Amino acid sequence: MAKFYITTPLYYVNAKPHIGHSYTNIAADCLARYMRNILGRENVWFLTGTDEHGQKMEKAANNAKLTPQAFADKMVGKFKNLWQNLNISYNDFIRTTEQRHIVTVKKVLNILYKKGDIYLAKYEGWYCTPCETFWTKMDAQDGNCPNCRRPLERIEEENYFFKLSKPEYRDWLTEYIKKNPDFIRPASSRQEILSFLTSKQLTDLCISRPKKRLRWGIPLPFDSDYVTYVWFEALMNYISAVGEFKDGVYNSRWWPADLHLIGKDILRQHAVYWPIMLYALGISPPRRIFAHGWWLMDKKKMSKTRGNVIDPQEMVDKFGVDAYRYFLLRDIPFGQDGNFSEEALIKRLNSDLANDLGNLVYRTLNMVEKYFQGNIPEVSEQMTNDKKGLQKELPLEMDMNALNFSMVLKGIWERINVANKSIEDKKPWILFKENRLSELRYFIGLLVKAIREIARDISFFMPQTAEAIIQQLGKNKINKGKPLFPRVNV
Ligand code: MSP
Repeated sequence: MAKFYITTPLYYVNAKPHIGHSYTNIAADCLARYMRNILGRENVWFLTGTDEHGQKMEKAANNAKLTPQAFADKMVGKFKNLWQNLNISYNDFIRTTEQRHIVTVKKVLNILYKKGDIYLAKYEGWYCTPCETFWTKMDAQDGNCPNCRRPLERIEEENYFFKLSKPEYRDWLTEYIKKNPDFIRPASSRQEILSFLTSKQLTDLCISRPKKRLRWGIPLPFDSDYVTYVWFEALMNYISAVGEFKDGVYNSRWWPADLHLIGKDILRQHAVYWPIMLYALGISPPRRIFAHGWWLMDKKKMSKTRGNVIDPQEMVDKFGVDAYRYFLLRDIPFGQDGNFSEEALIKRLNSDLANDLGNLVYRTLNMVEKYFQGNIPEVSEQMTNDKKGLQKELPLEMDMNALNFSMVLKGIWERINVANKSIEDKKPWILFKENRLSELRYFIGLLVKAIREIARDISFFMPQTAEAIIQQLGKNKINKGKPLFPRVNV
């Protein structure tokens, strides 16, 4: 039976959600809605959630004068709230502090430990606390974190390691990536991982933190002086949410995941560490990992210290949920970086949404009202199988499968423009004046049919707008409502 299991990263709850989190979840939501339409609701599983352990969380909780658990409970509410306001239709929300996750993580650790893939060793090296990542001297020659550029700390302690460096593991993964061109997307990310695997020696992964340094984590089942490193356990959410281990064998209706949607900064964890962890456990790798780009402000990374972080809730309050969803998926090809600005969003809102789409619906409703007393003229199937012009249907499949959201939307907008232009060309007001009623009936019928199809296509991207269009068109008689997108004056 065909199924589609899609995941997003688990977001850190040390701060409130920002544009990057909303971007991944909106894209995942769009795909989940699209796949439900194809496979049926019961065959799609969309998982999101929160990453709640680790040093960053412990620090943030301390600052807030709360226990880590109480702090996480409070922050999770903000994420769930935002997902509701953004119409994110997830099926399951996993928190790494839940029992189902903890149980699986302990089982995995035991399996790998018994297998000899986890061992204790002395560690000396460089650590970035904000990124919770160890770096080698090679990675960090200037003493700063290669990722966030903050100063690294020198660390010396005994820790547990996972044997990521086994040649067997690297060889398997390299072969797997080569044989499966769609496994890591876009092509630039695939290339990045392939060159990483060929140019660098993989080092074993430190998977523990001594309790004397960090208490807030999942205890190692074989050594109570340690907790599990947050990245190592967080990745396991993708299996802990949808299945169980019985006698060392993992079972799930949904695994392998069909798509892990992530940002490009967490590609290595997902495309190297995770597949190797799964391989070591005898579990198949996910089918696809797609790394999207970053939203920047004035071409720079957003950061709290720069004070240029975009708050998704604020954008929704200002411009409406669907204008925000539309802008993020339309403006920049998925996979590339993009610059965020309110001006660019307003421009799209006024031209694509208020002008092109809003006007098409508004004019059509007005004509149905004026020429047919609100009753929608029916067009028979035979009359509408001429698949040209207004009737030309859109093949979304190829671009949707490639996660090429902006191309899909561009195509839908071409159809909207064809429909708008057909009104200009046909001049229904003249047909009415000249009493050419059957021609008028046929034209308006086709127009309504095209709008219904457009509404279906945009429903994956803008569910609320699609619903409003369907509502306003009614079954046989229209119910004209508020304009879909009021223009925003700058
Ligand atoms: N907790 C880890 C993920 C564990 S998954 C098992 C994590 N969390 S995060 O909250 O820091 O980031 C989550 C996602 O947000 C990443 O995919 C990251 O790429 C994305 N973004 C953060 N800022 C972003 C932008 N400015 N633009 C687009 N996405 C960015 O990493």
